Amino acid sequence: MKLYVEKDYDAMSRRVAAMIIEEMNYNPRSVLGMSTGGTPMGTYELLIKAYEEKKIDFSRIKTFNCDEYIGLHGEDPNSYRYFMNNNLFNHVNVDTRNTYIPDGRAKNLQAYCKAYDNLIESFGGIDLQLLGIGTNGHIAFNEPAEELSLNTFIAQLDESTIKSNSRFFDSIEDVPTSAISMGMGSIMKANKIIMLANGKNKAEAINRLLESELVTGWLPASFLHLHTDVTLVIDEEAFSLCDERTLYKFY
Ligand code: F6R
Repeated sequence: MKLYVEKDYDAMSRRVAAMIIEEMNYNPRSVLGMSTGGTPMGTYELLIKAYEEKKIDFSRIKTFNCDEYIGLHGEDPNSYRYFMNNNLFNHVNVDTRNTYIPDGRAKNLQAYCKAYDNLIESFGGIDLQLLGIGTNGHIAFNEPAEELSLNTFIAQLDESTIKSNSRFFDSIEDVPTSAISMGMGSIMKANKIIMLANGKNKAEAINRLLESELVTGWLPASFLHLHTDVTLVIDEEAFSLCDERTLYKFY
């Protein structure tokens, strides 16, 4: 795992956007794994700017989002489809038919989950997966547990996740309690992974990730230590509970 600790959110976003731009220019047919939430918003803004400045081209790019709430229609402002359209896809030249987000209203959810993994495989897998991290260490919606799911699955959201995501909803009762999420195996199959984290509320999860020697289902992000190409880009606040010497362990 390679670690970059940037001064603040903007610097973190700049570093991640630069890495994605490099990937897209190296392979204009890249399959990108996307995430939603507050953390990647700055990165998406910078990708839009790079597109406007003709530095990147989305015309042959394919995207797969790692999760979607169950029960929300794509036009619901809280759905991840809406988020992606609004924060990225509507502002660049991506072909929306090439943007895949789990359908939270699929009739047969089990069959849908299987089909989602097959679809990713059929495009040769994900070249670069972008991930955030939950305050409890979840990635996508792989919540802390003794056993984690290998493939795309129906996730029950943790109370802490529901509470944290309630900031995007009118009330906590409106937050869906389940989601379709890529499993740990689906994520680990990506060629490259970039995980980003900012702010004090992520410091504890980052501390556990970087200071512990354990790979455990109770900290799903810890599985990323087993992947050969992971870059963690965080800000100083997210790093604030870690030992300075940790910087030299991951470079
Ligand atoms: C969202 C996702 C989640 C978020 C995580 C952090 O697609 O997969 O795992 O990355 O909950 O969310 P924020 O960025 O809002 O702190």
